[in-house]
Amino acid sequence: DWNSGNVIAEQVAKIRAQVGTGKVICGLSGGVDSAVAAALVHKAIGDQLVCVFVDHGLLRQDERRQVEEDYVKATGIRLVTVDVREQFLTALEGVSDPETKRKIIGREFIRTFEQAQAELINEAAEIDGDPIRFLVQGTLYPDVVESGGGSGTANIKSHHNVGGLPEDLQFELVEPLRTLFKDEVRAIGAELGLPAEIVQRQPFPGPGLGIRIVGSINRERLDLLRQADAIVRYELTEAGLDREIWQCPVVLLADVRSVGVQGDGRTYGHPIVLRPVSSEDAMTADWTRLPYDLLARISNRITNEVHGVNRVVLDVTSKPPGTIEWE
Ligand code: XMP
Repeated sequence: DWNSGNVIAEQVAKIRAQVGTGKVICGLSGGVDSAVAAALVHKAIGDQLVCVFVDHGLLRQDERRQVEEDYVKATGIRLVTVDVREQFLTALEGVSDPETKRKIIGREFIRTFEQAQAELINEAAEIDGDPIRFLVQGTLYPDVVESGGGSGTANIKSHHNVGGLPEDLQFELVEPLRTLFKDEVRAIGAELGLPAEIVQRQPFPGPGLGIRIVGSINRERLDLLRQADAIVRYELTEAGLDREIWQCPVVLLADVRSVGVQGDGRTYGHPIVLRPVSSEDAMTADWTRLPYDLLARISNRITNEVHGVNRVVLDVTSKPPGTIEWE
């Protein structure tokens, strides 16, 4: 019988056997997989683990705080946050092609992670001369199957993480979720006492809000999209629909403007697209039939509260032919 307590005990023993007294590093994304993987490793080896959280400025509202405060409080994990918001904005300036955005975000992410790792290794060397030898990955069973079951090296699908990790990172991988499915990972996370916002979080792409701005990325556009996204998430949660919806990308059409009227003036603002989808595995999806009253409330709130947005539209395309994300 599957039982999260047994799985935790089993994995803790395995992790201890694998890493011994070695030092371990883990990148946290704010998502459920890395959060649960790190918590398991921390339970096994405590402060031999250091986690790194990269704030690239493409995060959603409150995500950094959830990791830095709620998650750290729940686990006691040692966390280093690297703030590279400026660096990412500069690297992405003027870029609107989706794949180019992904490449730049992946490249900058790896650069940041390598720098952080080098600094941590120096620091560790100063303390007790023991370098970081292990890297935690939140690889799930479906990922293992999809990538042909390869093991032992960092063979991460570029689609899956922020660009994956470089092959010359000389780490041995620790993958405590390799035999598990997503719902099992959530159950373990809950059993480990992790915050519900993280354990129940819907999928969110590694490149974050960067691929939800159709057009080039700048600080103003990110702020605007972040506000709209926070309203949508709040209202969907209030309506009790989080479990029914696989995910709901909120997209800013930054290169499109349309005429509107607000107060006694004409506006010329941007549309926000709502993309609520129902799905089993993201390979195919259908658009979710949200209640009209809820759509009305979301639309009113966004156009009233988010300065620069004067229209809210609903994406009623299934996948295929549409993808879930717009980029
Ligand atoms: P699409 O848009 O291809 O999305 O239908 C399928 C699922 O993958 C997520 N997605 C990504 N995840 N990096 C990621 O880590 C990416 O570049 C990326 N692009 C799409 C998307 O959110 C959905 O869950």
